[in-house]
Amino acid sequence: MSTREGTGLGGGDTNRFVYVTAALAALNGLLFGFDTGVISGALLYIGETFPLLEQSAAVEGLVVSGALIGAAIGAAMGGTLADRIGRRRLILVGAGIFFVGSLGMATALNVWWLIVARIVNGVAIGFASIVGPLYISEISPPKIRGSLVSFNQLAITSGILVSYLVNYSLASRGAWRLMLGAGTIPALVLLVGMYYMPESPRWLVGEGRESEARSTLGRIRTAAGVEEEIEEIERMEELEEEGLTEVFKPWIRPALIVGIGLAAFQQVTGINTVIYYAPTILESTGFGSVVSILATVGIGVINVSMTVVAILLLDRVGRRPLLLGGLVGMLAMLVVLGGAFYVSGLGGVLGYVATGSLMLYVAFFAIGLGPVFWLLISEIYPLNVRGTAMGVATVVNWLANLVVAQLFPQLFDVIGPAFTFWLFAGLTAGAIVFTHYLVPETKGRSLEEIEADLRETAVGDESLSMAEQVQEADD
Ligand code: BGC
Repeated sequence: MSTREGTGLGGGDTNRFVYVTAALAALNGLLFGFDTGVISGALLYIGETFPLLEQSAAVEGLVVSGALIGAAIGAAMGGTLADRIGRRRLILVGAGIFFVGSLGMATALNVWWLIVARIVNGVAIGFASIVGPLYISEISPPKIRGSLVSFNQLAITSGILVSYLVNYSLASRGAWRLMLGAGTIPALVLLVGMYYMPESPRWLVGEGRESEARSTLGRIRTAAGVEEEIEEIERMEELEEEGLTEVFKPWIRPALIVGIGLAAFQQVTGINTVIYYAPTILESTGFGSVVSILATVGIGVINVSMTVVAILLLDRVGRRPLLLGGLVGMLAMLVVLGGAFYVSGLGGVLGYVATGSLMLYVAFFAIGLGPVFWLLISEIYPLNVRGTAMGVATVVNWLANLVVAQLFPQLFDVIGPAFTFWLFAGLTAGAIVFTHYLVPETKGRSLEEIEADLRETAVGDESLSMAEQVQEADD
């Protein structure tokens, strides 16, 4: 077994259409980012229409976290659905739900209606978070799979930025219905556009629909290599057993642990405390609210730009170096951030230190843990359980997100900002150890090669971790 890096095995040359397909599928990420980002701004004005929101913290919490609850539900169903009804069809269903959910939020006549619509929208976010990366991963040639799948993360960060900008521009009018309703537009584009896109060739082979898979591949590859790719997928497919329980078989376990671990670490290292609460954090460093909101837009821009850097690097330097480097940077910035708050009496120079480290923290997330988590979970699972296994990791991601979002304001109040950020720093140190020992490199390999490695190593030395096994196999 060898790494066969950069050979592009398992695929013909890239046809430009694959970029169009990936970009369109990445609208899933745009909606994910937009709908999770938009609420913080809209919230300020919804209370004027529905006073109950201002009277009850629990109701307000439900409006905010309704999307996260829905996303966890959507992720729990989405993986298995993607395996059953297919990737493309699930994207279409999800786009429909996004549309209905956004329209529902914009037209809500009372707060309960709004909460239900937000949960419905959340279900679509849950679907999107799985099927976006999954679909792109399966249509991509190995050489550029890292970049193409990370279009989705680029779209998530762009969606967040757009939501900040939409909020900013509509704030003076307090137009929360327009803010929440704006999601209908990308949802409609996704629905119509995806209708014309092909189904994943890998899923088609899994369903025994080889001739359709062949014609799909013909659209997204140049002719050379199509046959070879089909044969490679078929070879793997023959080895596989069907059934839900397969996902918990011992040979898949190392990959399952990697996915679940990264899912939790992506959230408990604190990113969404910044994404959801940036203005609050910034105000507590001594800035006024206008400056804080502008700086929040700055954070959004950094998040997008560094994701572009990640896209350029992922297929060159690999997943592991970016992940590890990014985590080390996040750790350093969290230590500094906590330190700046600890010295207290922020404002002045310390206010700038805190803001600078907050921005760099986001930059380091955007170059590593942000895109690499979603990329790896779309790569490391075998075909027949790929959707289901991604679903398991994604549910963990959304639940961890929910817990952190609920706990953060209380942590901030009770143990204070310094210890809150140091707690995230400690958890980031855990993520570094986890990644160092357990996370494999997947750069340049076809999905079938990655699966073959997992199979072979499972029958090899079971005491070795997945990363060690892959390392050993390469030596
Ligand atoms: C995470 C989200 C987060 C976003 C920030 C994504 O990879 O899953 O929870 O809000 O990155 O850019």
